[in-house]
Amino acid sequence: MKLFVYHTSELTPSQILPDTAVVIDVLRATTTIATALDVGAEAVATFKSLESLMEVSENWPAQKRIRAGERGGAKVEGYDLGNSPLDCTTELMKDKRLFLSTTNGTKALQAVEQSSTVITAALINRGSVVKYLLKQNPETVWLIGSGWEGGYSLEDTVCGGAIAQSLLNNGTVPVTIGNDEVIAAVALYSQWQDNLLELMHQASHGQRLLGLGGQEDLKYCATLDIIETLPIQKSPGLLVKLASSSL
Ligand code: MLT
Repeated sequence: MKLFVYHTSELTPSQILPDTAVVIDVLRATTTIATALDVGAEAVATFKSLESLMEVSENWPAQKRIRAGERGGAKVEGYDLGNSPLDCTTELMKDKRLFLSTTNGTKALQAVEQSSTVITAALINRGSVVKYLLKQNPETVWLIGSGWEGGYSLEDTVCGGAIAQSLLNNGTVPVTIGNDEVIAAVALYSQWQDNLLELMHQASHGQRLLGLGGQEDLKYCATLDIIETLPIQKSPGLLVKLASSSL
């Protein structure tokens, strides 16, 4: 397995695709996607634009859908939810399809949706991501941060580092380093692994969310390995929970 880290989707090569793309948006899209599927959502349909979300979700039974729209960290008016993973309760999500559009995360997903396998990662499900990659052992793996409007984000890179460190230390499957960003991400994770919440507080998007009252979101998103759910793309933009027998 050859491992690459890209800090944002804008920095990923545009002419080639990996065998497995791992999209990361710790604050908060991929944390929300994993949580929604974990509590029983039937699927999460992701959209770069709010317009296409509205258009596609119109064709889904109203009682079976939840529309979530976020821009700039805030809920978009007229949507059922914003992008807080803490809104994803079993009562709300069970057997529903979550239609989600966020500022950067759903855009990053769209950038690699043609890869043969697309999964999403966050700190909360890091262990399952590592387990899946070691079991599948794809030839090339890209860990792709969503960043913020084209720029680097600490929280996505630290999650890439958490995944990369576990893969590199696994001791059974040979894993090689594909680019310098892998080394930088592992170094970032090594420095902050015992203080991930403090890192979220220092991150620019963490500060934006704190300004919007997102203290509890940061706490949840900074927690490692609390759920086993692994979101996997079934068709472009549509994520479902990988059956636990496949992990
Ligand atoms: C994004 O896509 O940029 C984020 O998930 C923003 C957020 O809701 O915190």
